[in-house]
Amino acid sequence: TARQEIDLKHYIRHIPDFPKPGILFYDISTLMRNPDAWQMAMGRLARQVAPFKPDILAAVESRGFLTAAPLADRLGCGMLMLRKRGKLPGKTVSHTYDLEYGSDTLEIQHDAVQPGQRVVIMDDLLATGGTLAASATLLQKAGADVVAASVLVELTGLGGRARLGDIPVTTLLSYD
Ligand code: PRP
Ligand code: MG
Repeated sequence: TARQEIDLKHYIRHIPDFPKPGILFYDISTLMRNPDAWQMAMGRLARQVAPFKPDILAAVESRGFLTAAPLADRLGCGMLMLRKRGKLPGKTVSHTYDLEYGSDTLEIQHDAVQPGQRVVIMDDLLATGGTLAASATLLQKAGADVVAASVLVELTGLGGRARLGDIPVTTLLSYD
């Protein structure tokens, strides 16, 4: 309900000029440190993600790890890590994508997903959509069926969800 939405937004702290001047940072630390608010957030997230019937959740380093682990436990599915370059042992599949300045690389282990497995990508926040789009591309390269992406916070003004094409994105808290 609207009442619950207002309550959870109350726990998201806004920090101006981080990590750069002019950027408003949406800080979930204040949500996580409150046991009732965090439990409510994870319960609502689980209800949003369950209908997609994931076989496995793909957690985006690093803040995506924070939601994927409790969700995998609640939904009774597995999870895998999408990590920044050089962190994963063994054979990996990687994808390099452009940022505003420069580029970044995400990796998964080559055998992280089975062909056709239903995967939901988990992250804390959707801004430009670059991170989720790169994650989807990498998972598809590895043979996954990416059925949805799930975030706690969406900054709708940046239009990031368009970068995901046909992949539905669920959001707990939206900000213009
Ligand atoms: C932040 C955030 C998302 C991403 C969203 O991660 O946690 O992953 O940016 O931005 P986008 O939609 O414009 O791609 P960041 O790269 O700061 O790293 P972290 O999760 O390791 O803190
Ligand atoms: Mg991140």
